[in-house]
Amino acid sequence: MQGWLRKKSFDALERMDSADRLKQTLSWPHLIALGVGAIVGTGIYTLIGVGAGLAGPGVLLSFAIAGAVCVCAALCYAEMATMIPAAGSAYTYSYTVLGETLAWIVGWSLILEYTVVCSAVAVGWAGHAVEFVHAYHWPIPEALLAGPGTPGGFINLPAVLITFLVAGFLIAGTRESATINIALVAIKLVALAAFVGFALPGFNAAHFTPFMPNGFSGHAADGTKVGVMAAASIIFFAFYGFDAVSTAAEETKNPARDLTIGIIGSMVLCVAIYMIVAVAAIGAVAPALFAKSPAPLVFVLDQLKQPTAAKLVAAAAVVALPTVILAFMYGQSRIFFVMARDGLLPRRLSRVNAKTGTPVLMTVVTAVVAAALAGAFPLDLIAALANAGTLCAFVATIACVVVMRLRDPGRVRVFKVPLWPVVAIIGIPGCLYLFTTLPDLTIKLFFAWNALGLVIYALFSRRSSVLAKA
Ligand code: ALA
Repeated sequence: MQGWLRKKSFDALERMDSADRLKQTLSWPHLIALGVGAIVGTGIYTLIGVGAGLAGPGVLLSFAIAGAVCVCAALCYAEMATMIPAAGSAYTYSYTVLGETLAWIVGWSLILEYTVVCSAVAVGWAGHAVEFVHAYHWPIPEALLAGPGTPGGFINLPAVLITFLVAGFLIAGTRESATINIALVAIKLVALAAFVGFALPGFNAAHFTPFMPNGFSGHAADGTKVGVMAAASIIFFAFYGFDAVSTAAEETKNPARDLTIGIIGSMVLCVAIYMIVAVAAIGAVAPALFAKSPAPLVFVLDQLKQPTAAKLVAAAAVVALPTVILAFMYGQSRIFFVMARDGLLPRRLSRVNAKTGTPVLMTVVTAVVAAALAGAFPLDLIAALANAGTLCAFVATIACVVVMRLRDPGRVRVFKVPLWPVVAIIGIPGCLYLFTTLPDLTIKLFFAWNALGLVIYALFSRRSSVLAKA
C-alpha cells in the first residue's frame, strides 16, 4: 500500500540536478500575459454562444457560477504554487501532498485537459478564420473547413494548421514566445473593449426576459442536459487558464511575488471582462439568435450593422486566440516533462533542448495529437472533455490546500487563501457539481481515459517511478 501513497518531499526541487532544471526567464508581466492569454479565448469568443443556447440570458448566471468556482480554485492554486514553486502545477502539488497514485490521476487528467484545450481553441479559431475565407471568396473546398460532424465537412484544416504553427513558436523558445504573447493579449483585450463599445448602444433590456427559458438544471426533449448549470459546465471553459501560469512556476525569477500577482491578477481581470461582454452581447441581440454561430460576437456586430467592427473583432480573434493554444501547449509539454522527470512517463521524452531550453519532442507529440482532435471533432464535445480534466485538477488542488492546512498549519505561506475554509467549502462541491452537469458522454470519456491511465500506471509507471527506485 505504501508504494501507492508515496510522496515527493518538499525540498525535492532544491536537490534537482541542474541539467534537469528549466531556465528561470519569466517575471509577473509575462505571467499575467500568459494568464490572460490562456484565459480569454474560445470561451468568450465562441462558447458564449453554446452557453446562451443552453441557458438563454441565464447564461449570465452561468458565467457567475463558473467564475465563482474558478476564483476559489485560483486562490488555492496561488497558495500551492507559492508553496511548491516547481513545474507541474496540480500534478506536482498532488504528488507532494496526496501521494503518487492521486498525482498520477491528476497528471493524466491534465494531459487530457491541456491537449484538448489546444484542440478546442484551434476549432474556435478556425470558426473566425473561416469568416475571412468566405468574405473574400478564397477557393478552399468547404470539406476542408469543418470536421466530419458538420454537414459537408471532412477535416477542419485551419484548426490543424494553427496548432502546428503555435507548436513551432514554442519550440523556438519560451521567452521569445512569451514576449510576443504580451502584444497579442493586448489585441485580444482591445477587440473585446471595442465589441462592448459597439454593442452597448444597441442595449435592449427586453432581451433578458424570460431569464431562464430552460430552467436552472434540466433535460431537453432529446435527453441532453440544458439550463443554467449545463451552460455553466461548458462556460467554465472560458475561465481557466490561470493554472497554466502555475505550470511556469519553475521558470519564474521571483516565484512568491510573480505567481501571486500572475494568478490572482489574470483571474480577476477576466471575470470582470466576461461579465461586461456577456451583458453587452445579450443586450444587443437576443441570445437565441447568436447561439448557433461559430463566431457569436462577430455575428452580434453584423446584426447591429457594424460590418467593419465585425471584421476587426474576427481579425483580432484570428491573430490573438493562438495565445491560448500557446499557453496550454506550453503547460502540456511541461506537465509531460515533469511526469517523465519523475519516472512516471518514459524519461527520454523529457529531454530539454540545450539551446532553447524547451522540451521539443513533447511539444511535437502534443501538437500532433491536438491537431488530430481539432481536425476531426466538434467544439462543444472537445471543450466539455477539457472541462472534465480541469475540474479534476481543481478538486485536487483545493484538497491539497485543505490537507496542508490540517497537516502543517505552521508552515510559512507566502500567499494564504483568505476566507478559509469558505473557499474550500464552495470550491470542492462547486467543482463536483459542475462535473455532474457535463454531458453524459463527456463523463464516460473522462472515466475511460482515467481507467486507461490507471492501467498504464499499474503496469509501467508505478515501477519506473524515481521514488520507487530511490
Ligand atoms: N479559457 C480559455 C478559453 O476560453 C481556455 O479559450
